[in-house]
Amino acid sequence: KKIVILISGRGSNMQALLAAKPGCTIAAVISNRADAGGLAFAQSHGIATAVVAHRDHPDRESFDAELARVIDGFAPDFVILAGFMRILTAGFVNHYQGRLINIHPSLLPAYTGLHTHARALADGVKIHGCTVHFVTADLDHGPIIIQAAVPVLENDTEDTLAARILNEEHRIFPQAIRWLCTDQIELNSAGRVINRANT
Ligand code: GRF
Repeated sequence: KKIVILISGRGSNMQALLAAKPGCTIAAVISNRADAGGLAFAQSHGIATAVVAHRDHPDRESFDAELARVIDGFAPDFVILAGFMRILTAGFVNHYQGRLINIHPSLLPAYTGLHTHARALADGVKIHGCTVHFVTADLDHGPIIIQAAVPVLENDTEDTLAARILNEEHRIFPQAIRWLCTDQIELNSAGRVINRANT
C-alpha cells in the first residue's frame, strides 16, 4: 500500500510513522508551509516532498484542488493528515472518502477543534487523550479507528500534558496506519469502524 502524509510543522507523527515501519510505502510528504520542519526530515530519508502553499491560492477550493492534484500524482491508497493545520473543503474530503485519515489530540468527540490541551486543563478533566479517525465533512467527527487515554495530573501544564499525549500519538498513529495498510479496517453501513485485527 502507498500513503501520502500531509504536515504543516515539525511532523513528529510522520517521523514516528517512518520509524515504526508500518508495512507501507510513504510515497510523499506534502506540506502547506515551505518552512515545515518535517520536510527536511522526509528529504533526509529519501522521501519525495512537495509544498502547496495556501497563500498562493485565492480561496479554499482552489487550494484544495491543487493539493488534490499534487496528491493524486502519487496515486496513494490513503491520505494521512498528521499535524496538518488546514480545514479541508467537503469536495476534497469527498474525493478521498474512506481513505482520508487524521490524528487529533483529544478523546473525540470531546474537544474537537484547536487548543485541546488548554481546554481540557481549564475544564479540570482527569482523563484526556488522542484519536485517529477517518475524515468526513463533519470536522473532527469521523469514524474512530483507535484512541489512547492518559491521566491529567495535578501539576500538569499544557506542555506536560501535550508531551504525555504526543507519546501516545506516536504509538496509536503507526498502529492505525499498519491496520489500514494490511486491510484490517473497514467501515460498516452505519459508518462504524470494524477492525478485523481485534476479532
Ligand atoms: C499533534 O498534537 C497532532 O495531534 C496534531 O498536530 C500536533 C502536531 O503534530 N494534529 P506533529 O508533531 O506535526 O505530527
